[in-house]
Amino acid sequence: MNPVYEKLMKCYESCRAKTDFKPRVALVLGSGLGDYAESIRVVDTLDYHDIEGFPVSTVPGHKGRFIFGYIGEVPVVCMQGRVHYYEGYDITDVVLPTRLMKLMGAEILFLTNAAGGIQLGMKSGSLMMITGQIACFVPSPLIGPNLDELGERFPDMSQIYDPELQRIVRKAAAELSIDLCEGTYLQLSGPQYETPQEVAMCRTLGADAVGMSTACEAVAAKHMGMRVLGISCVTNMAAGIQAVPLSHKEVQEAADKVAPQFKELVTEVIKKTAGIVSV
Ligand code: HPA
Repeated sequence: MNPVYEKLMKCYESCRAKTDFKPRVALVLGSGLGDYAESIRVVDTLDYHDIEGFPVSTVPGHKGRFIFGYIGEVPVVCMQGRVHYYEGYDITDVVLPTRLMKLMGAEILFLTNAAGGIQLGMKSGSLMMITGQIACFVPSPLIGPNLDELGERFPDMSQIYDPELQRIVRKAAAELSIDLCEGTYLQLSGPQYETPQEVAMCRTLGADAVGMSTACEAVAAKHMGMRVLGISCVTNMAAGIQAVPLSHKEVQEAADKVAPQFKELVTEVIKKTAGIVSV
């Protein structure tokens, strides 16, 4: 068996030995949303450490567990903490949790992250719905023998972010009077923040926000036929746009500040997906 698939199946069996919960929406919590779990009617939790072969994050402040439960009527699995490519994992390990959540039953992948803002008019605390992405600076998670069990060799990526889900996000934001930007997210490997010259490059390429996650997970999800949705929390303007140097602390503080609004939006969006997921 392909070792990537074998590892995935081992994790799946390890999960299933502990819970038979069947989520419909998979939510990945980025920086600042770590305690979102409080908004979930929790049914079960599962520490990443307790899943055989599961990649465990090394970033301070990132908890590592799945939370299973309900938001409104929608069964969700929520990742409290994710692993990043810059931690040294193979890119196939970075997307293993995404694939696992699909196997558990998730039809929608809701990705959130912290990002540096590039688009004019953004400021620290802006929320950006991701409408497109640039993922060519990190390796494709689909490199290697194709996992035919998951999807096809050459999957289409012309519309990774689901238009119907985007409409739901716009509606939810309007109802909650939350300002929402929209734009293209570009993933770099990190872990260093960008140089001003790299940010200038990102802008030239058409990016509105830059970060170190998300795009690879979106590719893996699309490969498996999931519907994908993403929202970035712009914690800072990217290097060279803002005058002061960046720090992880500043990013976390900015994320914490916007977290209540972000959580409100996430909750409302997930409630509204009730109409489009299987029951
Ligand atoms: N660059 C990359 N990733 C980030 C940033 C940034 O400016 N802010 C938060 N995550």
